[in-house]
Amino acid sequence: DCTKTVTVATRDVTERMRQVGADIVVFWGSQSGTAERFAIRLAKEFKQRFGKVALVADMSDYESDSIAKIPDSKVALFLLSTFGEGDPSDNVHEFWSWIDKKRGKPLNQLHFLAFGLGNSNYKHYNAVIDHVVARINDLGAQALLPTGRADDVKGETEEHFLEWKNRALATLRDKLGLEEHDPVYEPSVKITECTVADAAVKYGVPLEQATTRAAARIISPIHPLQVKSSHELFKVTGDRNCLHMEIDLSTVTGLKYKTGDHLAVWPINPDAEITKLVRSLGLSNKLDIIATITPIGSEAQLKLPESAQLSSLFAHYLEITAPVSRDVVSTLVEFAPNESAKEQLLAFSKDAKLFSEFTHSNYINLGRLLEYVDPAAGAWSSLPLSLVVEAIPAMRPRYYSISSSSVVQPRQAAITAVVSDSPLEHSKGSIPGLATNYLLALNGSIQQTPSTHPRSMSYALNGPQVSLQNGKIYAHIRKSHFKLPAIASRPVIMVAAGTGIAPFRAFLQERATLLKMGREVGRTILFFGCRNQHHDFIYDEEIQETANILGDVFSLVTAFSRPDRGAKAYVQDRVRENADELCDLMINHDTYFYICGSANMAREVSNVIGSGLSERQNWNGEQLKAFTDRQKRSKRWQQDVWG
Ligand code: 2AM
Repeated sequence: DCTKTVTVATRDVTERMRQVGADIVVFWGSQSGTAERFAIRLAKEFKQRFGKVALVADMSDYESDSIAKIPDSKVALFLLSTFGEGDPSDNVHEFWSWIDKKRGKPLNQLHFLAFGLGNSNYKHYNAVIDHVVARINDLGAQALLPTGRADDVKGETEEHFLEWKNRALATLRDKLGLEEHDPVYEPSVKITECTVADAAVKYGVPLEQATTRAAARIISPIHPLQVKSSHELFKVTGDRNCLHMEIDLSTVTGLKYKTGDHLAVWPINPDAEITKLVRSLGLSNKLDIIATITPIGSEAQLKLPESAQLSSLFAHYLEITAPVSRDVVSTLVEFAPNESAKEQLLAFSKDAKLFSEFTHSNYINLGRLLEYVDPAAGAWSSLPLSLVVEAIPAMRPRYYSISSSSVVQPRQAAITAVVSDSPLEHSKGSIPGLATNYLLALNGSIQQTPSTHPRSMSYALNGPQVSLQNGKIYAHIRKSHFKLPAIASRPVIMVAAGTGIAPFRAFLQERATLLKMGREVGRTILFFGCRNQHHDFIYDEEIQETANILGDVFSLVTAFSRPDRGAKAYVQDRVRENADELCDLMINHDTYFYICGSANMAREVSNVIGSGLSERQNWNGEQLKAFTDRQKRSKRWQQDVWG
């Protein structure tokens, strides 16, 4: 049926474990959702292999003090990701200050396992899990295994997790004296068909539904927003595109942004991928069914609507283009339509190398895997829909730094998106970026040139009300800390490569406008790097206009990595050449320093600035660190960086 029950949970984690009869608790701290997904999967497998309950816990849902009461007959697991400047995710902040404030041995009965998610491209690789483990060790807790770490630098987070998970489950088995069963699929969600009247909720109006569970976790609600205009920014496109889109916020009362905030765009899956999946599942003619989705058991925390039309589920709520984990492959084995399919799945699930070779040579997602293993339409119709829903991660938004100033256009936000496909490691071809290709198709439909674009995909499967012809995107605003100084006369230094220029376009707009309004605007330096002056130097004309308005206070310093002639250069080379002025500004003139772009670039620029400062100030490593830490705390050093 379509009814639901709501339970109000306690903030005492030990009490909650008692209520649900849990032997272990899996705490997750996550910004993008990966650690949360891992926690849910680990709990599920714990149940399937040992028949025991694991509580999956959002760290912010429980009092930190209550962790100290977990008895030594139980085990706590921590799955924590590190992002940005070595920061913990938002839901870990309370625990973070608790472990720093606590003294003595309050955790001396706590047994734990720890796993960190990070990316060694960043300076503070896995700093969060390392700090948490060091602190809780000091507070008396005992690790049952050395800390596990996932490094996303080569996209191997998943495999690193699988490796650690197997060790963790074996450790839990021994420590808790558990008996192991052959794992059999047990659904953690119940999916039932119901009629519109039963559901008594809106359907087919994706993501606007108040009943979306995910809505509770999203700071500002998701709205359909009109794209007012859109155009290509690259002068020579070839196989690369970069889009500028202007998005109207004025239709939603109270929807506001501040310069430097992000726009979170909720992409739509392309028809071709939906078709593959539903064809394999034998659901091609059943897409208008309305399904209710109800979690079973304590570990299921669904980020899905309580009810949705199947078409909407596959187009909007499930990220069906996500890569498939080897774990998922093993759960498919018992539903294989025939012996040869079963053997193929078993081979993949047992042999990490074989599977990674396969996924690095082919574009694979669940629909494509099913089709590869048995291509017949409906071959997989006995695969439970619950398993499909559990195997595919919930759709997540993609964040774009807003490239307009809220002072200049408060009710309209611009984004700058480079269309990014990830090349396959072991073969030609690539995996199309989900959101950026969707935006590209939207650009085509707005300019009414969809079919002429060589790579444009189609997105109409889910019915005309959400097709691209409307020119709307589902989006919400995410606040950021990336901000201009409140006092415009303070100098700013901005360093960007590629689309890293997005927030700086907004900064320049804003400073030029403030100057025209009569405010004093300080020294403004932009370092910008791209491949070629004549191909991907985006916003060059606008920057020239800004230069004319700002006059002498403004400097643009460019670095072209693939110039028509002359030596190639990266922004860090230009930063080094200009180190005298930059260091003087930073030391003596209360300057705000910004970096936006790839993590590699940010690390190299930071190193160049760091050695420039150290040389000129005669600083040792510690003194430099004290300075940069102080700058970061007082917002004089800000970064907006991605993997
Ligand atoms: P490339 O020609 O080597 O790709 C935007 O992507 C710009 O950033 C490109 O000019 C690109 O150069 C450059 N880039 C790539 N890696 C970089 C790094 N580690 N530091 C600075 N710039 C980099």
